Amino acid sequence: MKWQAAAPSNIALIKYMGKTDGGNISTNASLSYTLGNLLTFIELEPTKDSTDKWEALNKEGCERIHISESGQARFLKHLGFLKKEFNFNGNFIVRSANNFPSDCGLASSASSFAALTMAAYKAVKDLKKADLKDYSLEALADLSRQGSGSSCRSFFAPWSLWDDNGARKVDLPFEKLHHQVVVVNDKIKQVSSSEAHKRIRTSSLSTTRTDRAQERLEKLMINMKAQDWKTSYEIIWNEFWDMHALFETSQPPFGYMSRGSLHVLDSVKSIWQNQNDGPWVTMDAGPNVHLLYRPDQKYLAQNIAQDLSAHFQVITNYV
Ligand code: DP6
Repeated sequence: MKWQAAAPSNIALIKYMGKTDGGNISTNASLSYTLGNLLTFIELEPTKDSTDKWEALNKEGCERIHISESGQARFLKHLGFLKKEFNFNGNFIVRSANNFPSDCGLASSASSFAALTMAAYKAVKDLKKADLKDYSLEALADLSRQGSGSSCRSFFAPWSLWDDNGARKVDLPFEKLHHQVVVVNDKIKQVSSSEAHKRIRTSSLSTTRTDRAQERLEKLMINMKAQDWKTSYEIIWNEFWDMHALFETSQPPFGYMSRGSLHVLDSVKSIWQNQNDGPWVTMDAGPNVHLLYRPDQKYLAQNIAQDLSAHFQVITNYV
């Protein structure tokens, strides 16, 4: 018997950056758009072995993934946590695959921890039937958050808000957006986002980070509701630079911005300057650049993809 689950990645417009010790409690609320085309697939198979084990899943359309020993240990630790929560003693072989490159700032931890949480719930529910209580999507998201914070937002689409009350779907306009990720450098990043959350505490900018993020979140939601694309773009732009400034003002400083990232950001900036319109742009804890376009901007998205693909891999999902 095998159980399967898939979960999408997400891209935050207001970032989860900074957390308290233990359990991934964010120091600020975050807002994300769910990336329905960037998926992690998980398969769980019961085993008589005395421990859980991770293996790469062979799946059409997916690259075979490699997860470091410590990455596997973190993933299996989350499975252990879920089994304890569900009061289940058996072990599993966990197989996973992503249909996008791993560990390069495409938030594979969000989709993989969400998919693992879903798959474990499905499997144990099926095995224990009525002996396991029903969990709402919000409750499963809360369990997933404890494995990797950003994964709790992947349970809701298209817009997901994670604040002190947990993660949930939030109704906002721009429900369908074309998405592009410009893969500037697909080498494994030096400082993981989990590590970045800790290191930014040493930045003098982090003392007021919660207030800045909260203010931007409120402003962004107001402007999205008013369908003000340009002001929203400006808020989103300031937010990811704020996060990258936190990185670069930490002790010691660290960063992800590469020459390629700056090239892409410059191209987007000049489009906005020339046309008074353009895509929303954001970056996570990595050098890749995410672009979001309204449905009527498909032609622009195609042109930008064509220009940038001379230098970079561009992964596009048109709606
Ligand atoms: C920059 O969710 O990867 O992508 O909770 O330690 O697993 P852990 O951190 P993680 O942090 C994501 C940070 C970010 C911004 C975001 O997605 O909000």
